[in-house]
Amino acid sequence: MISDRLFTIREEGDAVVVLDQTLLPHQVAARHLRSLADAAHAIRAMLVRGAPLIGVTAAYGVALALKDGAGNESLQHACDTLAATRPTAVNLHWALARMQRHLRPLPVAQRRDAAWAEARAIAEEDAAANRQIGRNGLALIEQVAHRPVNLMTHCNAGWLATAAWGTALAPVYAAREAGLPVHVYVSETRPRNQGLLTAWELHEAGVDRTLIADNAAGHLLRQGKVDLVIVGADRIAANGDTANKIGTCLKALAAADCGVPFYVAAPLSTVDRDCPDGARIPIEERDDGEVRHVGGLDRQGVHATVAIAPDWMPVANPAFDVTPARLIAGIVTERGVCAPGELHTLFGNET
Ligand code: MRU
Repeated sequence: MISDRLFTIREEGDAVVVLDQTLLPHQVAARHLRSLADAAHAIRAMLVRGAPLIGVTAAYGVALALKDGAGNESLQHACDTLAATRPTAVNLHWALARMQRHLRPLPVAQRRDAAWAEARAIAEEDAAANRQIGRNGLALIEQVAHRPVNLMTHCNAGWLATAAWGTALAPVYAAREAGLPVHVYVSETRPRNQGLLTAWELHEAGVDRTLIADNAAGHLLRQGKVDLVIVGADRIAANGDTANKIGTCLKALAAADCGVPFYVAAPLSTVDRDCPDGARIPIEERDDGEVRHVGGLDRQGVHATVAIAPDWMPVANPAFDVTPARLIAGIVTERGVCAPGELHTLFGNET
């Protein structure tokens, strides 16, 4: 699935190369990140996106920053700059805290190489965790009696959102490997339309999929066309309340009313054990232009942006919502599937 053309992030000399997700699904193009400013821009402008990938990019951003000096002040400046890029995905803050913990005790002369190695380790661990999420989630798909199994997802929690494999889509890829036929309903996910990324990556992987307007989800659930819903997460509070892309909670409510199980798939790096419940999760409010304007290809195949609402129209653009734990049938992690209220059991005695 990940090839020379299809990858999310990789090292190249003393630069980091990312796939520019703002151009997908129409164009596959890579961008070189060579500095802290490049990494911060890539996260803020959503060239890279998805909680786990944001965390990996931030870790590499620290490594890029230390090129120009690795003292405590540079390290703190890098972490502060990257932490300010996006507020909701906790993997960003988790990765920066891990980089600080790892680098601070080291002599300054060793920090630069150590930063690259630690960023690489974070990326490799993310890929391994997601692979295991796929295996653990496969069991849920196998439980459905008929074939193909119809899943619904929201936003993009596929390999594009991670170092590899994805979170919500990892079980789909595991099912495909196991020869189990699946079909995925993919909601557009206005205003940024990350559903198009999902539809694109499923197409690239040869998985059967149907793109739907966000508003079609309730109708399909009521018609019995969906066996299970699996979404990703940007931050999971200690009680299992889950922040994910705006529109997730509506799907969870509809799924609950229709008796369709609603699962969240995420690595443990997305669990914020310091956050007791969803009400404390910071929700990113993004630029109102994302709601006012729509981008795409015109009839000549040239990228164009058109206004669908006038400038004077008041607009709100909350980027995430919180699905209460009571609507979640289970959380799929690399350490197993558990009820939202049982999350703490996955951490054992870890502090
Ligand atoms: O704003 P984004 O695209 O960075 O949003 C994050 C997401 O990709 C989703 O909310 C996703 O479902 C969880 S991250 C795997």
